[in-house]
This record gives sequence, C-alpha cells and structure tokens, in this order.
Amino acid sequence: MRYDKPKVVSIKKIIEENSRVKSFLFDLEIQAKPGQFVMVWIPGYDEKPFGVILKDGAGLMITVAAVGRSTKALHQMKAGNLIGIRGAYGSHFHLPSEAKSIALVAGGYGMVPLAYLAQEARKKNINVELFLGARTQKELLFASWMKEIGVKLHLSTDDGSVGHHGFVTEPFAEYVKNKQTDQVYVVGPEIMEYKVAQICYKKQVPFEVSVERYMKCGLGICGQCCVDNTGWRMCVEGPIINGEDLKKIIEFGKYHRTASGKVEYFPWVKKTKN
Ligand SMILES: Cc1cc2nc3c(=O)[nH]c(=O)nc-3n(C[C@H](O)[C@H](O)[C@H](O)COP(=O)(O)OP(=O)(O)OC[C@H]3O[C@@H](n4cnc5c(N)ncnc54)[C@H](O)[C@@H]3O)c2cc1C
Ligand code: FES
Repeated sequence: MRYDKPKVVSIKKIIEENSRVKSFLFDLEIQAKPGQFVMVWIPGYDEKPFGVILKDGAGLMITVAAVGRSTKALHQMKAGNLIGIRGAYGSHFHLPSEAKSIALVAGGYGMVPLAYLAQEARKKNINVELFLGARTQKELLFASWMKEIGVKLHLSTDDGSVGHHGFVTEPFAEYVKNKQTDQVYVVGPEIMEYKVAQICYKKQVPFEVSVERYMKCGLGICGQCCVDNTGWRMCVEGPIINGEDLKKIIEFGKYHRTASGKVEYFPWVKKTKN
C-alpha cells in the first residue's frame, strides 16, 4: 500500500546505530522496494525524504543521520511519539533474474537502501560483495546485520580504524579488475558515486545509482528535484537511475539545486575550476 496523505504513526522502537545515526521502527503496512523512499513529517519542523527498509522480522525502518534542524529534532523524539509517513515513492533497484553475484558500494547513510537490497538478494541466494566505507569503524552502518545474512564485507575507513585505510572506491576498483560481477549498485556522497560510475563505464559493468536531489512534494508535482538536461524528476523517474540513463544527466557529479532552486556546484568541481 502507498500513502499519498501522511499516515500518522507512533514510533515503535528507536535503535542508536552510532553517535550520529538512529533507526526508527514503525508498525505500518506499506509496500516499498529497495531504493525507494518515504516522506517523513516531523511535527513542528518539516517533511523530509528518507530511504526505506522493510527489515525481516522488524517491519518498516528508517535510518537517519542527524545533520540539520529537522533530523536533529527527529533524534530527540521517543518511542510512542507520533510522526507522519507518506509513500513509498520513486524508482527502485533491479536484480537481474540471472544474477549470481552483485557488488554494492555504500558510503554513509547510502547503506540504508543497499542493506534492504542485500537482504532481498541473499533471499535469492545471490552472492553479495559489499564495499562499505565510513569515517571510522563506529560509523560503519549495519556491518553485523550484513555479516549475519551472509554478505561478504570489504570495509574501508578514513582513519584506518578497520579495513582499508582510505576511500571505499579503491578496494572496489581492485575487485572489479579481477572478479566477475553481474551488476553494481552504488549509494553515497555524489563524488563517490561519480568515481564508481567511471570505474563501471571503463570495465563495462552495468550499474545502478541513487541520484539524490532536494525534494519538496516527493511525488512529482513541484518540479524541485528535476535534473538537467532530461527534466527527470528524481522523486518519480529517480532516485534509482541505471548507468546508461545516467549519461544523460549532465549535472551528475557537477552540481545540484538548493531548496530555492539555485544551482550549486559541488566543492570538488569549484576546486578544479579555480
Ligand atoms: C531520496 C533520498 C533519500 C534519503 N535517504 C536518507 C536516509 O535514508 N537517511 C538519512 O539520514 N538521510 C537521507 N536523505 C537525506 C535527508 O533527507 C536529509 O539529510 C534531511 O532532509 C536533512 O534535513 P535537516 O533539516 O536535518 O537538515 P538541513 O540543514 O535542512 O539540510 C542538510 C542537508 O540535507 C539535505 N537536505 C535537506 N533537506 C532536503 C530535502 N528536502 N530533500 C533532499 N535533501 C535535503 C541538503 O543536502 C542539505 O544541505 C535522503 C535524501 C533523499 C533525496
Ligand atoms: S520533489 Fe516535487 S517533483 Fe520531485
């Protein structure tokens, strides 16, 4: 079932994943595929998009990093408090019917949609190689859950506290040089997604990526999340885009639009221009 008006639900349980990230669980029947998102109304603040997980045995879960006003307010809420949920919305990941082995590349809360995808892939007995990166060991999301369901972990941390000391893209590039993979899925900061896309184009490996843009209505009406030059709405035609279609989104890896619609170049693009 999809909800186009906010469905008021109480928070069933809150899990502190690390000092910046909490998961919120709800009793709500909803249909959602890996890669889709819900719009969450945080009373007194705003409505914001978050990736969905339908976790086996736990139900609907969102996992939120406290980065600004609304997400910090959400982190202050307690079990039993009420919030509003609409959705699920957007495009979703596809698992090729013949897939034997897939690779996931995740950075930060990008692990949210990929954890749900990994769960579904393991149910189909698909081998899942997960390249998971974070600043420190404590910030690696869902590593023990993934291990439990038989996902093969390739960890990277910026401070070297565990796994590869450096960017997650480095062990991933080594992996695709030597190993066969049917499809790659990537979600994380856009610079990371851009690098993975370049590696996949070079090695001719099919991939899907989540292209996140500022969202207001979340269901295709306001035009806030349209991308150049296609005009595709990232809340309807996206956020999950395949590698071939991604070539048509000229702003990918270069710029995005702020809440007011102003074009804002990513910091790494400015640096190369100066
Ligand atoms: C499809 C999609 C899925 C997402 N999934 C998750 C998730 O699973 N977990 C998670 O922690 N975060 C997720 N986000 C990001 C999350 O929506 C923002 O972190 C949140 O909206 C920040 O709100 P704020 O008021 O706390 O911060 P603000 O201070 O308002 O913003 C901080 C930053 O968050 C981003 N942001 C703010 N508002 C929006 C918006 N309406 N739409 C898109 N980006 C916004 C902007 O980049 C902004 O610079 C997702 C975003 C999108 C588009
Ligand atoms: S957020 Fe309104 S069209 Fe996508």
